[in-house]
Amino acid sequence: VWPFAALVPPDALAQPASANSGFVPDLIVELRAKRDTLRIWPGPTTRVWRYDGRVVAGDPSALSFVANGYAPILRVRRGQKIRINFINELSEPTIIHWHGLTVPAALDGHPRDAIGTGRRYVYEFEVRNRAGTYWFHAHPDGRTGAQVYYGQAGFLLVSDEEEAFGLPKGEHDMPLMIQDRRVDADNQFVYLAQRAGGMMGRGMMGGGMSGMMERMMGFLGDRILVNGQPDYVLPVATRAYRLRLLNGSNSRIYKFARRDGVPLTVIGTDGGLLGQPLKRPYVTLAPAERVDLWIDFAGQPVGTDIALDSLPFDGDAAMGGMMGGLTLPMGAHFPIMKFRVARREQAHDQLPPKFKPLPPIRAQDAINATQPRTFGITMGMMTWGINGRRFQMDGVTSSETVRAGTTEIWEFRNDESMMLMAHAMHVHNVQFRVLDRSVAADLAAARATLSGGYVDEGWKDTVLVMPGERVRVLMHFGSYTGLFLYHCHMLEHEDTGLMRNYLIRT
Ligand code: C2O
Repeated sequence: VWPFAALVPPDALAQPASANSGFVPDLIVELRAKRDTLRIWPGPTTRVWRYDGRVVAGDPSALSFVANGYAPILRVRRGQKIRINFINELSEPTIIHWHGLTVPAALDGHPRDAIGTGRRYVYEFEVRNRAGTYWFHAHPDGRTGAQVYYGQAGFLLVSDEEEAFGLPKGEHDMPLMIQDRRVDADNQFVYLAQRAGGMMGRGMMGGGMSGMMERMMGFLGDRILVNGQPDYVLPVATRAYRLRLLNGSNSRIYKFARRDGVPLTVIGTDGGLLGQPLKRPYVTLAPAERVDLWIDFAGQPVGTDIALDSLPFDGDAAMGGMMGGLTLPMGAHFPIMKFRVARREQAHDQLPPKFKPLPPIRAQDAINATQPRTFGITMGMMTWGINGRRFQMDGVTSSETVRAGTTEIWEFRNDESMMLMAHAMHVHNVQFRVLDRSVAADLAAARATLSGGYVDEGWKDTVLVMPGERVRVLMHFGSYTGLFLYHCHMLEHEDTGLMRNYLIRT
């Protein structure tokens, strides 16, 4: 029995944080951040901090879990009114952020809203986003990396009336969360030389010098988990599948490709379907980014294995050459998972040649088209920053203040710190479009090692900015006002300062 459970009021219908009178939810879900053990590898079970939960009212199939229970899958509809009663059963403060969703500031999972052990936070919002592959994860101050690593992450799949028309559904629509982990001889996750049990490893900072370096530069594991399972094999039938790939890793960038050389068919990005399917030899995915793929296994003999790999790239370009000595360095070539053709099914799936067209990207729609806001990634003494400032709970400057209902261009600049390291810039509360990328001539080679794999054509909430690169994005701020965040989604960078507030005011 959890000793702090008594702190939680017994009624499941507590008032939401933003006293939202008149809000009648059509789905009520209870989510618990809890310490648990799972069988991931043969031998000892692994201690994790996972999300458990249940549907309190509404469609019971709205909440399910990946096979071993490691991660929840919450399915909601656009326009649906949902209430989520979140209970923290971890031994430290936490809060949930709904990654990619537009919700009121008080429900966005800002670190200042983190709740202590045994406390409850009630989220109540209408799902305003397009159909697509979103997710949710922990977002406490300085501990996002650790909590996500130990298991605080889940899928949030939004559907709407027309989106999935002609696309695979049900068991043929698979979310796949890809993460890298490090484990010790007892099958326990190791993060910066710390374990989920809370014991510190060697040295004050956990892991001494190399731990300090990883805490700043980014943590990489050497075991790949897909939906919390190693050596993941997905049995498939001879028909088409929709695969929703989420890079749920702390800092690793993947370059996904089929081993048989068949190009990938991309149908969606962070914020839902593209205007039309795209074929790519490989797809580069930074932490927090998603792509939806369409793969047809028709015509494959039963028993065939089709492997998905991560292709090599110049790891030094992405990691500043700081992470020597790892068994699986950034940019290594390694297997991700396999699809095993397990049974025949007559399907004759046709990929629709076009989806609903996306609105055109017009720079002139921005109120600051002639003078975009610029956000340079900077580095201080053992801290990252943006335009020279690190994260402060309430800190926001006038250059970080925007007006509700306006469209702006923001430019992320990754050519101002001495460090040749990639960043995955994420903006809360919006979906944006990528306007363009530019790169300093002397750094063109570094960037070239990864280019071609971006899927910049769709709606995005996270964008990879390679060393030396400047990326301009166009975004519209809606009606929700208040304090939101923008940051690098390499979680160690986020936790060591590469995050700032921005304010939406009326
Ligand atoms: Cu998924 Cu503030 O991030």
